[in-house]
Amino acid sequence: MAWRNDQVSEYETDRIIKVARECLIVSGDMVELGCYKGDTSLMLAEVIRGTDKKLWIYDSFEGLPEKSEKDESVIGENFKAGALMVTKREVKERFLRAGLPVPIIKKAWFNELRYEDLPSEICFAFLDGDFYQSIKDSLELVESKMAKNGVIMVHDYKNEALPGVAKAVDEWKKDKDVKFKEYQSLGIIII
Ligand SMILES: C[S@@+](CC[C@H](N)C(=O)[O-])C[C@H]1O[C@@H](n2cnc3c(N)ncnc32)[C@H](O)[C@@H]1O
Repeated sequence: MAWRNDQVSEYETDRIIKVARECLIVSGDMVELGCYKGDTSLMLAEVIRGTDKKLWIYDSFEGLPEKSEKDESVIGENFKAGALMVTKREVKERFLRAGLPVPIIKKAWFNELRYEDLPSEICFAFLDGDFYQSIKDSLELVESKMAKNGVIMVHDYKNEALPGVAKAVDEWKKDKDVKFKEYQSLGIIII
């Protein structure tokens, strides 16, 4: 199937699929924090189709939160609170229309999620919350659940319009023993 994604470039999409496929041999499920209307979630559902892995996806379904001073960008005033809002039902219906298994969909702000809301082990995590605090909260939620050789991919790490993303990742990884790579706007953390 050819995947279309409004939020992620074609090259990034290919890389997400490739890395997620490589993670099929790692134990644990896949998660996406910040699923929006589910474009990347649909791709991940296709990747795990026919395996015993599950996909867990998370969003406020109220759009973006307020940004913090760490998100102040020199190149514009996009990404307002409440932007990128869709309903959980819309996302669920996209999976049904695509004939793909509906993932576990949780509606919450990331800072309201508890560890029990995530799978016990994660092989691949895609973090796409756009802002400093959203990425910081996401990293803190997934870190203790990541399997050895699992991968955390952070979208917008190199996006100048969203400087809070790199700040959150760089602060988090400075005292961690992880490998880190960049690909286009993606930051790729290998556990
Ligand atoms: C850029 S969109 C995600 C795009 C999606 N990953 C894709 O590939 O199509 C960012 C999403 O993150 C959600 N989000 C951002 N910060 C959040 C937070 N702190 N808690 C819950 N959802 C959040 C927004 O509601 C929005 O749907």
